[in-house]
Amino acid sequence: MLDISDLHVEVDGIEKLHDINLHIGQGETHILMGPNGSGKSTLLKAVMGFGGYKITSGSIVFKGKEIIGMPIHERAHLGIGMMFQHPPTISGLKLGKLLAATSHLGSDAIEALAQSVNMEKFLTRDTNVGFSGGEIKRSEVLQLKVQQPDFLMLDEPESGVDLENMNLMGKEIAGLLEKDVHIVNRRKSGLIITHTGYILDYLEADQGHVLIDGRIRCHGNPREILRAVKDKGYGECLRCQQM
Ligand SMILES: Nc1ncnc2c1ncn2[C@@H]1O[C@H](COP(=O)(O)OP(=O)(O)O)[C@@H](O)[C@H]1O
Ligand SMILES: [Mg+2]
Repeated sequence: MLDISDLHVEVDGIEKLHDINLHIGQGETHILMGPNGSGKSTLLKAVMGFGGYKITSGSIVFKGKEIIGMPIHERAHLGIGMMFQHPPTISGLKLGKLLAATSHLGSDAIEALAQSVNMEKFLTRDTNVGFSGGEIKRSEVLQLKVQQPDFLMLDEPESGVDLENMNLMGKEIAGLLEKDVHIVNRRKSGLIITHTGYILDYLEADQGHVLIDGRIRCHGNPREILRAVKDKGYGECLRCQQM
């Protein structure tokens, strides 16, 4: 579904991602870990096509199409969706209007999806304005439920979420990724950035990757990587790779 090859990305004239290679098949979920500032969010934003993230070499092929140079809305139409680590607040744009503009669903269907994540009272409020941490994340999940992207990039879905909301988020994300469908028939794939690994309590991930200083240093079993990082820190990934 997604093939990133030899990708180099610059921000403000400084190379932040070096030689990234990542291949995510249909139905697969991959986990991305790494210390603060290592470039995890930068990678997702480069795939989504945000301005300011300049691709100096490499390729990003999604569903067989090179997407570098394609505007964000075309990437979204192709089936790429993203949950932000720090979503913007948008004064003057009601959440219900935003949802209606990003899908072909009617207002009843949107209302039903909003109810499923306890957001029905928020449709008439300005998007994310004054929302609590949990409400912002539920708003993000709702936007993805409405958009139904085939490839989901989730940037730290656990951050700022209390335990009760985490339970809801975990189940909803597993649903968005069609984890209840056998991998042979599953259409959805995902790339999830996680610090805590809590999300792994709710869904199985197929592969884990560790990004340090803009380079992917390790690929492997997500739970084993999480355990190693919890026990020994990211320094262990560098030591391990040198060996
Ligand atoms: N829009 C931007 N302008 C300037 N620097 C940026 C921008 N986005 C990211 N960076 C820098 O790139 C580095 C990687 O950031 P980021 O991808 O957010 O890290 P992570 O998500 O792994 O914590 C950091 O040093 C950050 O300050
Ligand atoms: Mg980040």
